Amino acid sequence: MPMNIGDLDKMPRARLSHGPTPIEQMPNLAAHIGAADLFIKRDDCTGLAMGGNKARQLEFYIGQAVAQQADTIVITGAVQSNFTRMAAAAARKSGMDIHIQLESRVAKTSPMYLNSGNLLLSRLLGATLHRFSGGEDELGADMQLENIAANLRDTGKVPYVIHLAQGHPPFGALGYVVAAHEINQQIVASAQSYDEICVASGSGATHAGLLFGLRAVGNMTPVKGICVRRAASLQGPRVTQLCQKIAELLNMENPVRDDDVDVNDTVLAPGYGMLNDAVSEAITLTAQKEGILVDPVYTGKTMAGFLKRARQASAGQRLLFIHTGGQPAVFGYGSDLTHLLSDSPL
Ligand SMILES: Cc1ncc(COP(=O)(O)O)c(C=O)c1O
Repeated sequence: MPMNIGDLDKMPRARLSHGPTPIEQMPNLAAHIGAADLFIKRDDCTGLAMGGNKARQLEFYIGQAVAQQADTIVITGAVQSNFTRMAAAAARKSGMDIHIQLESRVAKTSPMYLNSGNLLLSRLLGATLHRFSGGEDELGADMQLENIAANLRDTGKVPYVIHLAQGHPPFGALGYVVAAHEINQQIVASAQSYDEICVASGSGATHAGLLFGLRAVGNMTPVKGICVRRAASLQGPRVTQLCQKIAELLNMENPVRDDDVDVNDTVLAPGYGMLNDAVSEAITLTAQKEGILVDPVYTGKTMAGFLKRARQASAGQRLLFIHTGGQPAVFGYGSDLTHLLSDSPL
């Protein structure tokens, strides 16, 4: 069915994800937390190599890669990046090779972090791995990606680079413009709206795409971006700029006002990929009240922000959490989670 959001229907797109993903109610968690009704959009069930938000984003990156007749995807991310794991799966599904640059973004050296979780899966998918030791340096990481791509070109390959830093067309965000259209259709079909939607804000592509897509279809539900990567003072302008770039890409007017970009960093400390008490509580509560797994880096933090909002909400308010996946990182961060585990008889 056409979406009629600027040029969205004309953008090259590879179908990689299951959809529409369901929206479910979380009655046990709601009863424990307070008066609001809590819902969850199961984008952890997008179906590509254990699912997550990046399947939707990769549909548009792989679409570009196919249009450019690329045979290799080149991407960078943290050692436990979900994006690189899913890019590996997307590349394989599309008949391409995959090169992943691993950034030392988080100071962790546990055997689980370095061998399990997403990295284990990327290796299973046959990714060629490279190292970037520069830490938090988006431009530096991209420059080294370009070197990898240049070396591949020298051997006759046709690489497609998925950049990290801003300044490149935000193809990935289009996946969440599509998701917003999907959510709006689910709202219309159920004749029930939400008072607020809560989503992780990392690179900002998911947050910006969702906000843009909702406003583009006339849905004015407040979208709360929970900062998982950087402070709100940096994340807000990033999301605002991304919305403008989406508008340019889709050749339409930007429907998002600057003051509509809402980011909150109160659960970010001590920083990207690091647990705090609120995140630990969110991980255990979600698992033990609803049987739903959230991860320590993205969805656990976002759930902590969501629960904070839910505790302030009034009776009957309907709050929607976007579950963006990330479960493989639970294994990579296994040694950080031991204090949350029930006793083992072994
Ligand atoms: C599981 C998960 N959730 C949320 C995000 C944040 O998405 P975005 O980078 O589009 O802001 C990521 C990013 O890698 C992720 O892996």
